Amino acid sequence: MRKLAVGTLKGGTGKTTTTVNIGAALALAGYRVMTVDLDLQADSTVYHKVTPSREHSIGTLLLDPDIDPLTHVLDVSHLMDENPNGGKLLLLPAEMSSLEEASFKMQRTANLMALSRILAKLEGIADYVIIDNKPELGILHQNAILAADDAIAIMQPEMMTTRGGLSFEVSLREINANRVTPINFLGVIINKDEETEEAGWVDEVLAQQNVPVFKTTVPKSRLISKAYSYGRPAVLQFPSSPAAANYVELALEILSRSNAMAVA
Ligand SMILES: Nc1ncnc2c1ncn2[C@@H]1O[C@H](COP(=O)(O)OP(=O)(O)OP(=O)(O)O)[C@@H](O)[C@H]1O
Ligand SMILES: [Mg+2]
Repeated sequence: MRKLAVGTLKGGTGKTTTTVNIGAALALAGYRVMTVDLDLQADSTVYHKVTPSREHSIGTLLLDPDIDPLTHVLDVSHLMDENPNGGKLLLLPAEMSSLEEASFKMQRTANLMALSRILAKLEGIADYVIIDNKPELGILHQNAILAADDAIAIMQPEMMTTRGGLSFEVSLREINANRVTPINFLGVIINKDEETEEAGWVDEVLAQQNVPVFKTTVPKSRLISKAYSYGRPAVLQFPSSPAAANYVELALEILSRSNAMAVA
C-alpha cells in the first residue's frame, strides 16, 4: 500500500482537485485507491458525493485509537459509471468538528504518528493511498507527511504560489534529515496551467532551486472546476474530456516516479 501526501502551504492551488482526479484515474486503471481527507473543509469528501459526518470521519478515528478504522472507510466505487478494469475507489472522509478536536488533541500531545498507526491497521485494503491536506504545516499535515512514502506539491503558474510549494519541499527535507527511510519528493505539479510570461518565471525559479517538476501539467479548465458541483471528480463526470485524459497521463507519471524512487 503506497501512500502519497499532497501538499503546499499556499491555499487554493488545487491539492483537492488533483487528489480526487488522480485517485479516480488510478481506480479506472484498475487499482484499489483510498483517498484520505485530512482537511477540515472536507472538499475531497464532498467531491465523492459524501455528506461529512462524525460517523465516517478520520477525525473520529484520530480522537479514539481503539475504533476499528475499517468501520469509517466508505466504498465509493459506484461513482465510476464504467469500471472495466475492476478498480476500487475508497474514501476515508473528513468532518470538521471531529477533525478540529483531533487536531487540538494531537497538537497538545505532539502526536505525530496517529495517522501512520491508523493506516497501518488498514494495510492492504488499497494499492494507493492519497492524502489531501490543509494548506499549512500543522499537526495534521505533519502526520500526513510522516505516514507517506511519497509527496507531491501543487503550484499554479503564478509566482505567489512558489513560496508555499518550495517551503513544503524544504519542510520535507528537514523531516527526512531525521529519518532512516526518506519520504520521497516526487516533484511539483503545475495546476491551472496557462502559457503566460509569469508561467515562464515560475519554471525558472523551480529550475534554479533544482526542484523536480512533473512533465505533465494540468490545464486550467472549466470542466475540472465544474465537476465538483456533481459530486464527482472530472475524470468520472466527464470521462471523455481532454481533462480526464490529462489526469490519466499525470497518474501514470506519478506511478513511474514513485516506482523509480522505490527501486532507488
Ligand atoms: N485545473 C483547474 N482548472 C480550473 N479550476 C481549477 C483547477 N484546479 C482547481 N480549480 C479550482 O480552483 C479552486 C481551488 O482548487 P482546490 O480546492 O482543489 O485547491 P486546494 O489547494 O485544495 O485548496 P485549499 O488550500 O483550500 O485546500 C477550486 O474552485 C477548484 O475548482
Ligand atoms: Mg483542498
